[in-house]
Amino acid sequence: MNAQTWNERYAEKELVWTSQPNRFLVSETDGLMPGSVLDLACGEGRNAIWLAEQGWRATGVDFADVGIAKARELSASRGVECKWLVADLAAYEPPAHEFDLVILFYLQLQQRELGPVVSRAASAVAAGGTFLLVAHDSRNLNEGHGGPKDPTVLYTAEDVVPHLGDLKVERAESVIRPVETDTGVRNAIDVLVRAKRTW
Ligand SMILES: C[S@@+](CC[C@H](N)C(=O)[O-])C[C@H]1O[C@@H](n2cnc3c(N)ncnc32)[C@H](O)[C@@H]1O
Repeated sequence: MNAQTWNERYAEKELVWTSQPNRFLVSETDGLMPGSVLDLACGEGRNAIWLAEQGWRATGVDFADVGIAKARELSASRGVECKWLVADLAAYEPPAHEFDLVILFYLQLQQRELGPVVSRAASAVAAGGTFLLVAHDSRNLNEGHGGPKDPTVLYTAEDVVPHLGDLKVERAESVIRPVETDTGVRNAIDVLVRAKRTW
């Protein structure tokens, strides 16, 4: 999906995603000392804003300017300051070794586009910092609940890890995300990759 398609989705008044942070963001950042965070493909900003509320200096990047406008509004309404940038991750070069935490949540990209984006995101992690990616796992298509139905924008931990450069991988696996539905709780399958720059 291109920026225009995402903007069309974000054009509705309500939030497309929730205002609450993703559960894996909450659990995986528990115990990290707040510092600077870069949220790539931040959408309407729910994760960056929650991190800012925890004391992080947050920067959110997305190519959908309508999403970024909603993120700006949401952060103002929650009384936190974040830096918001409109940029296409296909070209965006974050500053090297700059951020204590770099996150990528539910970015849907074709395999050939994913590698360079992950690689640049990994380069942006500062010494001692953390990389965290969560996305719809390829297995979700046939075995899990919801998520995109286009298999070409789904991936697995094995597709991400080779692009992490010199980061040390701490977790690279499929994880279950229970989702409340009208017919009861259903399980979505996500990919979770967490890595650290040890130098
Ligand atoms: C499913 S949404 C997830 C938003 C947010 N990370 C969250 O979890 O709430 C995917 C986001 O990726 C953004 N995106 C997709 N391709 C992009 C690209 N090439 N450059 C920047 N943003 C992109 C879309 O605009 C959209 O906001």
